[in-house]
Amino acid sequence: MKTLALGLAAALALALPAQAQSKYPERPITMIVPFAAGGPTDIIARIVSENMSKTLGQQIVVENVAGAGGTTGITRAVTAAPDGYTIAMGHLGTFSAAPATYPGLKYDPINGMQTIGLAGGTPILIVAKKAFAPKDLKEFVAYVKANSDKVNEAHAGVGSVSWTTCTLLKGQLGVPKLNSVAYRGTGPALNDLVSGQVDFMCDQIVSVAEQIKAGTIKAYAVASAERSPALPDVPTTKEAGLPEYQIEAWNGIAAPKGLPKEAVDKLVDALDKALNDETVKKRLLDLGTVLPTKEERTPAGFAALIKRDADKLSPVLSAAPKQ
Ligand code: MLT
Repeated sequence: MKTLALGLAAALALALPAQAQSKYPERPITMIVPFAAGGPTDIIARIVSENMSKTLGQQIVVENVAGAGGTTGITRAVTAAPDGYTIAMGHLGTFSAAPATYPGLKYDPINGMQTIGLAGGTPILIVAKKAFAPKDLKEFVAYVKANSDKVNEAHAGVGSVSWTTCTLLKGQLGVPKLNSVAYRGTGPALNDLVSGQVDFMCDQIVSVAEQIKAGTIKAYAVASAERSPALPDVPTTKEAGLPEYQIEAWNGIAAPKGLPKEAVDKLVDALDKALNDETVKKRLLDLGTVLPTKEERTPAGFAALIKRDADKLSPVLSAAPKQ
């Protein structure tokens, strides 16, 4: 009887799909955040990975590897062994802007990595130190044009989202160069904005929403078609007089190319579950994140978004000053 039961169990195990037999993950997973702690990428990575860890049954450990506009950390992540134990939270900058910005880039976001899915859309705001003279967006535009030799712009390195989105803005204003101050992430840049060390930056909503609400910095406009429900008093660029400045940023997960299918499937499922979790949703929405659609949460949907934005940004960024 015992022999028969064991035989049946073995036969059943053989009949199970490969995914059900897989033990992945058997140890903690490292999620590389290619910027300093406290910035938008870090905030989204920590919210989402905490919940993904529960689904996967193993902890996802966030590791901040900053430098070169996020390309140092992404290079490390997507050139690691494709075993599912190293993944990355990247964004519009590292995945769509970097190829046009760094000709010698050591990774190929279009053909050389495994996308997992989009974690969140992050509307862009033009924000300034509280004491900055311009009162609204029209005054800001006039002031920057008249004082381009004096104005200090903070960003998170060439190729980052803050650099990319302000590069588009400066191109539209006809002031390609300002005094740029590069940081290892917009977390530390925001600290200097709050203390008045720098004048302004273009940043993702998730790290600035609380500061705007608290009145420690000011926001001129959000560069989206609609106001953000998280900051209903902040006008859109269209309402505030600069309708041509429209740009949406986002954050999403990728891994090295060649990842086994069961690891891809489990990571995609864990991300989807995290984004359906009520607590995660509330935390992301309170910070102004736009929740991804079902399609954007898939590897193919996320890959299509990366390519769409790379095609859009490439001509402008290739020609822009890298400072
Ligand atoms: C960060 O997390 O610090 C930002 O995403 C940096 C940026 O790209 O602007």
